[in-house]
Amino acid sequence: MDKQYSKPMFNGNELNDKVIVVTGGGSGLGKAMATYFLKLGAKVVITSRNLEKLKATATEMEAETGGRVLPLSCDVRKYDEVEAMLDETIKTFGTVNGLLNNAAGNFISPTERLSANAFDTVIDIVLKGSKNCTLAFGKYWIKNKIQATVLNIVTTYAFTGSAYVVPSATAKAGVLAMTRSLAVEWAKYNIRMNAIAPGPFPTKGAWDRLLPGDLKDKFDISKKVPLKRVGEHQELANLAAYLMSDFSAYINGEVITIDGGEWLQGAGEFNMLEEIPSQLWDMLEVMIRSKNKKE
Ligand code: COA
Repeated sequence: MDKQYSKPMFNGNELNDKVIVVTGGGSGLGKAMATYFLKLGAKVVITSRNLEKLKATATEMEAETGGRVLPLSCDVRKYDEVEAMLDETIKTFGTVNGLLNNAAGNFISPTERLSANAFDTVIDIVLKGSKNCTLAFGKYWIKNKIQATVLNIVTTYAFTGSAYVVPSATAKAGVLAMTRSLAVEWAKYNIRMNAIAPGPFPTKGAWDRLLPGDLKDKFDISKKVPLKRVGEHQELANLAAYLMSDFSAYINGEVITIDGGEWLQGAGEFNMLEEIPSQLWDMLEVMIRSKNKKE
């Protein structure tokens, strides 16, 4: 079967007029989305705490796409570093009109084993980091009357919660609330706010912390997904590019789940009936119908 979803959805200059900052853009999903933005004509800033790694990634991305990439060191937990990153972006590209809050920190642990600092560290990267970037950029956009888009990467357990990743769940739920709140409050300034809730899209950074060692083999994540596969980076990049582009101009305050139905599989009360073979359904139907007649 032709895997259309593995391919780029846009192929032109759909992001030609965009200058987009991708936090955590040096690796994993951030890198995949940033690379696709570049292919569509955007100028891109990638940030993380590791400037050496970022510089190497930027060179690689420029060679692959022919686009312009500015690598900037920025710990999103620190508001002064975020402001400096914003200043540097404007100095280089003249403006900025897109922000992808992608930087995250997460690892599995029973919550009672976490120190107060461990809990804070994840909250600070995810919630405070997204807040720091959104607030600094928002102030700049509003002051300079710039039409802009913010895209926040959350997760499906931002709605449901999840055991063993409680700091992340708590923080992502906060990011989702911020998305919906500011979508309304800042619409009058032509600032759109949306979120993506990805299901399993394996990356080294996340998988080494979420399914370390043998856990990768013990739990086959694709089995938890009704579509029986994990996501491909390009299909997430396609959605991100659409939400960053002006083609999605009327989408505001939305969170789009891209998980092959994974979270609903866990939610529906009778979803376990998936395991019943079709012959058994014939018998069950007879049993149910006979019951109907008696009552
Ligand atoms: N279990 C329990 N506590 C842990 C831990 C683990 N597996 N890993 C780190 N911690 C604790 C540390 O001991 C420290 O707490 P303490 O000071 O009370 O001892 C606290 O968490 C902060 O860790 P530190 O390594 O100092 O912070 P950091 O800022 O360098 O790293 C992390 C942040 C821990 C989130 C790290 O995993 C990271 O850098 N992640 C970024 C990338 C990522 O997570 N990607 C996946 C996103 S889905």
